[in-house]
Amino acid sequence: MALLKRSSRILSSIVKLRSSIEGKQFSELSEGIVEASQEEDYNFKDKAAIVNGGASGIGLEIAREFLKRGLPHLSIIDIDEEQGEQAVKELRNEFGDEKVLFFEADVANALALDSVYRKSMQFHDIPEIIINSAGIMNDAKWDKQIWTNVTGCVVGTLLGLQYMSKSSNGYGGIIVNIGSILGIIPSSGYPLHTMTQFGICGFSKAIGCGNHIDRTGVKVFAMCPGLTNTRLLTEAPANAINDRFAQEYVDEIDGSSPQKASSVGKALADIMNKAAPGSVWVVENDCDPYEVIYPGNLFEIKKTDKNDEDSESVTSVRN
Ligand SMILES: NC(=O)c1ccc[n+]([C@@H]2O[C@H](COP(=O)([O-])OP(=O)(O)OC[C@H]3O[C@@H](n4cnc5c(N)ncnc54)[C@H](O)[C@@H]3O)[C@@H](O)[C@H]2O)c1
Repeated sequence: MALLKRSSRILSSIVKLRSSIEGKQFSELSEGIVEASQEEDYNFKDKAAIVNGGASGIGLEIAREFLKRGLPHLSIIDIDEEQGEQAVKELRNEFGDEKVLFFEADVANALALDSVYRKSMQFHDIPEIIINSAGIMNDAKWDKQIWTNVTGCVVGTLLGLQYMSKSSNGYGGIIVNIGSILGIIPSSGYPLHTMTQFGICGFSKAIGCGNHIDRTGVKVFAMCPGLTNTRLLTEAPANAINDRFAQEYVDEIDGSSPQKASSVGKALADIMNKAAPGSVWVVENDCDPYEVIYPGNLFEIKKTDKNDEDSESVTSVRN
């Protein structure tokens, strides 16, 4: 409890500090997090992409940005059919009729998602990009939240690997899991959502690192937005565990202004090439994205000599 309170106070003061330092990123205020440099652009041409949860908000803006950069084949998969049809209409008006398809599915339902991945591949090619952006923020319905955010991310990724892997006739490619700043800094007002976001970051790091990419040719990494102006954020206070948690959350984000969803789309398109497998990135305050640096992988930590000075610092960071 004391720990929760302390982390809340820390997050709250960070948020306040953040809002008081106009134009500065959290990266500039925190040790262990470094800003990224610019590198060459990813080539979206001749590729097929699937955006799970692309009917609205961040997913829709990622889809729009990829199309702007020349993506010829896009499938949006979402549980909200009405919103999905609306999104496709909008994107077709902007980019042309043949490029965009919509399929309805619950991303956490493996059979349903597999069925629409297959349908997508009948019209478009095997995807070289999958974005897992479907998610909810609802601690009051925490079991549905775990199902959607965690199971959905796992199913979207594993099915993607099944089709995209070079070892199974795919072309390789990139899978991006949309996590959250709450997967890096916990929210005491939203503890269950925090858990799902730490899960997404941990899963993306683990499945992204090691030898997986040598076998699959598929790079997996996580992109974690800060507060972003979408329906999810607007509805969040009403979906906390109870009024006390809702107030705690409202206090935590007090004074911060959400970024545009289009800033997440642009940031992700910018780092598609340079993001390393298993890396975790943050985009917040409509600024450039930056990578979060973790202490190291499990093998490196285990190998470190206990009597070594460096070893102590690694252990203390882990605790
Ligand atoms: N808005 C923020 O402040 C914020 C911050 C950090 C991370 N995120 C993350 O960004 C992602 C997108 O959220 P958003 O803010 O754009 O919200 P949003 O509500 O606008 O978009 C989420 C989309 O996911 C869809 N969806 C929900 N459950 C689904 C399911 N089971 N199967 C398929 N589709 C489903 C919704 O219908 C919706 O279209 C989420 O994973 C969220 O956790 C959002």
